[in-house]
This record gives sequence, C-alpha cells and structure tokens, in this order.
Amino acid sequence: MPERKCDVTITGLTGRGQGVGKIKGQVVFVPGGLPGDRVRVAVTRAKKNYLVGRVEKLLEPSAQRVEATCHLSGDCGGCQLQELSYSSQLQWKREWVVEALNRIGGLSAHVLPTLPAPIIWNYRNKAAFPVGYDRGRLVAGCYMPGTHRIVDSEACSIQHEKSNCILRETKNLLRELKVPVYDERSHRGLIRHLVARVAVGTGENMAVLVTKNKRFPQGTKLAKALMDRVDGLCSVVQNVNPAKTNIILGTENRTLAGKSHIDDIMGDDELGRLTFRISPHAFYQVNSAQAVNLYRLVRQYANLQGTETVLDLYCGVGTITLFVAKVAQRVVGVEEVPAAVSDARLNAKLNAIDNAEFLAGRAEHLMPSLLGQGVSPQVIIIDPPRAGCDQRILHAMIQAQPDRLIYVSCYPPTLARDLKVLAGGGLQTHKDPACGHVSHDQSR
Ligand SMILES: C[S@@+](CC[C@H](N)C(=O)[O-])C[C@H]1O[C@@H](n2cnc3c(N)ncnc32)[C@H](O)[C@@H]1O
Repeated sequence: MPERKCDVTITGLTGRGQGVGKIKGQVVFVPGGLPGDRVRVAVTRAKKNYLVGRVEKLLEPSAQRVEATCHLSGDCGGCQLQELSYSSQLQWKREWVVEALNRIGGLSAHVLPTLPAPIIWNYRNKAAFPVGYDRGRLVAGCYMPGTHRIVDSEACSIQHEKSNCILRETKNLLRELKVPVYDERSHRGLIRHLVARVAVGTGENMAVLVTKNKRFPQGTKLAKALMDRVDGLCSVVQNVNPAKTNIILGTENRTLAGKSHIDDIMGDDELGRLTFRISPHAFYQVNSAQAVNLYRLVRQYANLQGTETVLDLYCGVGTITLFVAKVAQRVVGVEEVPAAVSDARLNAKLNAIDNAEFLAGRAEHLMPSLLGQGVSPQVIIIDPPRAGCDQRILHAMIQAQPDRLIYVSCYPPTLARDLKVLAGGGLQTHKDPACGHVSHDQSR
C-alpha cells in the first residue's frame, strides 16, 4: 500500500514528547514534530482513532525550535526534546498537567508555572547504559528510539560528566580485558548494562556492572582498574540479572571494589542539609538540584507546626520523610524495597533523627493496617511511581481525612485519575495559587 503523505501543522505534544496534529480531523502523532512546525508527514500506521506519521520534510520550522546540543539527537532515544527551547518545554509540561487534570480528573485546579531546573545539562545523577555489540564492535550508550539498537556514545549531554567518564573508561576496560558482552537475541554473553550513580553533594560515584551470569572472572581486576581511572569512584558493584527481561537490575549484588553504596549530602540553607546512603537498587531523585526545590515545596505545602503525625508513603531511602521529620512530631515512612528501607533507617541514624520510623512493605497493605492500629495522620505525603496509587490507598486516605495531602507525581495522567477518586471522597484539590506547582526535571 503506498504511504499517504499530508502537510500538517503540529499543535501540541504528547507526554512522551511526540508532536500532535490533525489530518482531516483525525489526530496524528508525529515523533520529531514540535509545536508550531509545519511538516510533510508520511502516515506509517492507521488505527481506528488515530494515525502515526513520520516527518518526511520540515516545511516551516516552529519559532520554538533551537539547535540540538548533542550531535546524536534524533538518532538516540535517550531524550526527546533537545530541539525545543527550554522555555517552551516548561510551558508544554504545564499544559500536559492542565490537560490531564481537566480531561481525566474533571478538575479545574490552579496550576502554577513550571519551576525551571537550576541546571539543564549534565544534570542526571543516574545513568543506565545498555552494553552490546554492533557489527562486532563493543558499544554502549542509549537505545535508538523504539528499538533495542544501541547508539554508541562517549558523552550524553543530560548525564553528569562523571557518569560519562565511567561510561568511557568502562568501555575501554571491557575492550582491554576482552570481557564478553551480552547479546539480547541469543541471550549469550556477560555484560548487559552499566549503571552509573553520582552523589552530587559529596562527589562519590558508583558503577554497577549488570551481568547475565554470576561468574565474572575479570570482575575484581576491572573494578580496581576502573577505580584507579575515575576520580571519586568509590563503589563498583556486580549485579546479576540472568533473566530474559527489559528490567535492568536483577536481585543479587556483589561488591567488586570499594563500598557497597555511596553517600550523598542534599539540601540547602532553608531546608537544612542531610546525609543519604544510596545502594544500587534504591530510588533517588535523578536531578539533585531540582530535588531540593521539590522537597522545599513539599515541606512548605505540608505547613507543619511540630505537633503533627505525618505519613510518607512510597518513601524510598527516606528523603522526604527525614526533611519533614525536622518540623513534625512523628513521621512514618512506607516503602516496598527492603534495601531502601534499610538505607532509610540508617539515614535517620546518620542524621540523628529519632522521630522517623520506616515500615517495609506495600503501601496498599500497610496504610489500612496503620489506620486500623489507630495512627491518625494530620498530613499525608505520597510519591508513587508512574502507575499512581492503588485503589486501596486512595480509599484509606479518604477514610483518614487528613488536614493536608501532598501528592508528588511524575506522571500527570495517573495523578489526575487518582485526584478524581480523592475528590469523590471529599478531599478537594486546593484552589489556592500557592499550590499546584509543576517542577521540571527534564527526566525524559
Ligand atoms: C517515585 S519514588 C519516590 C521516593 C522518594 N519519595 C524520593 O523522593 O526519593 C517511588 C518509591 O515507591 C516505591 N514503591 C513502589 N510501589 C510501592 C508500593 N506499592 N508500596 C510502597 N512503596 C512502593 C519505589 O520502590 C520507590 O522507592
């Protein structure tokens, strides 16, 4: 069937950064199209309710277009919007929230302008680089959009410079020591991914080599050499992932050289500064500078007077929990990853905080039982993954009727869906202009 071609004006963006336009009234999604562009589109897929197209030619570029910083932009799927000016990215992110709240949540909450991030390049403190072969050559970097073909990279523009250094030196050592790397199709070979983490506040770095098998004969030699070559690298860990899966980390970690974790210091004069221990599996906000802005807002919205009991659900290594503990009477953090809970307990000790406790388990199981035990939180903070909250948590929060509920979300559609349920249970979204900020971390 010949490809259908049409000229389209891009009028919006999806949450995944794809351009949106219309062909004869039907929505068309156009990867690479930016709001304001006039493009010639070749329709590659026609579904009942929408079309998908490929940009054949940029007829008239949008006024919001800028030159991409990275020469791999477009070929590499690591990020999507380099050619959209940062001020427009901020504007579109806010639009996405407004649209989700209206369309999915049926809410007309006041949404403030997006808070710009203090640093917009080399800001990510965690990188996961797939490792493989491309026509016999060892490569590592990011996947091409929509594929598992690796685009070889020496330096990713959104990753911290230290992660890029770990990437380059690991590739050098894998070549020098002739370590076999993984082939996804045959499920053979050893090294699958390199995960690099940077504690921005202390300068400590970690490299995690994800292997298909436990046996890694060159592991210790490679780890020690890597530590010699990368300044500040103080932890090299092997993570074993034998499964045929897209999930990066397996369950088993083995320290090859240095520490099993890294330590960070986060905060500012207003929030105070706290030390956090980060182990390979633990969630930690990827944009350190913007995380401080986020946590400052959470504490401001919580408006704690020092007398409250606070629940922090989905607490990770206890970052929010410990920042609010300083101004609350009692804080209970709930997290499902046992290693993160151990880190959180240790973080409380490291910071001499004794009014924070941490429970390991799923929030949907623990929240109802906490209420059953008579815990009556005045403030609840939730920060779920993209999937949003389980219905049981939403109903438990409605039952608890806290004075304030602060919902930190990384995915507006599930935020809107959950707010609708909460509003149905009497928990209204605030109309005060002080609430409803969107903060921007560019973590695409
Ligand atoms: C977006 S992170 C937030 C972490 C933390 N608030 C922070 O800022 O670092 C979500 C956390 O929820 C945890 N999690 C996911 N599903 C969960 C569940 N059903 N119950 C409890 N924790 C869960 C994840 O392991 C992760 O640590």
